[in-house]
Amino acid sequence: MLQEFYTLNDGSKLPKIGFGTYNEEFADNKEVILQALDCGYRFFDTASLYETERSLGNALKESGINRSDVIIETKLWIDEMGAGQVEKAFERSLNRLQTDYVDIYMMHWPRQTGADDEDWKTLDTETWQAMEKLVEQGKVRRLGLSNFLPHHLKNILDTCKIRPVVDQLELHPGYSQENAVAFCQANGVLPMAWSPLGRGRENATIGNSILVKLSEKYGKTIQQINLRFLLQKGILPIPKASTRSHMKANMEVFDFALSEDDLSMLSCMPQTAWLEEHPDFAIPGRKSNPDNI
Ligand SMILES: NC(=O)c1ccc[n+]([C@@H]2O[C@H](COP(=O)([O-])OP(=O)(O)OC[C@H]3O[C@@H](n4cnc5c(N)ncnc54)[C@H](OP(=O)(O)O)[C@@H]3O)[C@@H](O)[C@H]2O)c1
Repeated sequence: MLQEFYTLNDGSKLPKIGFGTYNEEFADNKEVILQALDCGYRFFDTASLYETERSLGNALKESGINRSDVIIETKLWIDEMGAGQVEKAFERSLNRLQTDYVDIYMMHWPRQTGADDEDWKTLDTETWQAMEKLVEQGKVRRLGLSNFLPHHLKNILDTCKIRPVVDQLELHPGYSQENAVAFCQANGVLPMAWSPLGRGRENATIGNSILVKLSEKYGKTIQQINLRFLLQKGILPIPKASTRSHMKANMEVFDFALSEDDLSMLSCMPQTAWLEEHPDFAIPGRKSNPDNI
């Protein structure tokens, strides 16, 4: 099990590496998550959109591991935002996860497609207030954000009673969003990296000449260089892996350190492997599945 932790702004701790569950390999399949538990992962990221909450719940039940020894993070999707909607979305997630509380509940996306400034700000604020009620009711331990750039995050920070502990962003060498990371860190919000391995795309992070050179220099894989880069930047990565060897390799990143020069080189490498999902322009046509309860 990982013995390295980040401390959040409420004093609680998170393992420095989490496990991503997006998505086909996990739908209706608890085996991959059981393997991840066996490898020592205890912090799992899911979302109502991924339709992997039920597999995660099934795996946790079958594992026999105490609920309090596992951290579950899930998210409401953009069509589940707004007063009156949040409570129902949360109950559906809880039902699928087969638990009575969630460790971190997140707003998945800051802006509905085409929403003008005042509209998305009001909807985000209303949604956050409904999420705060879930904390007050003891159903959620902490709140988080996902894909919130500084202007979105500022809107929440200006209006919230309960501060977000984390903000999940696409982050990897070649898309390091230094401005967004710096804004999070200046405001005590831990940046978390989604697609920390650039989703394994050929000729993007894999095969990139800078990463290949560093992989040879440090005797580590390109994926381990990616994860080490994020950790040294104070970011929490949540790699997804469906093979045991990958799960283990992704935890073996605490026995080496990138030099300051190499960190600088990675921070400045040309953009690569961006998944082209800009938070202000959302993802048209993707919907949560309200029948999946
Ligand atoms: N908040 C958001 O909007 C958002 C968006 C996207 C993703 N996420 C979260 O972030 C998690 C991670 O992102 P992701 O799933 O997009 O991609 P990722 O973790 O960057 O990459 C996953 C790919 O890397 C491969 N891989 C994993 N470990 C490896 C290793 N050690 N060596 C070689 N290849 C390796 C996997 O292969 P195998 O499966 O074959 O092992 C898979 O093809 C998601 O699962 C999800 O939980 C959040």
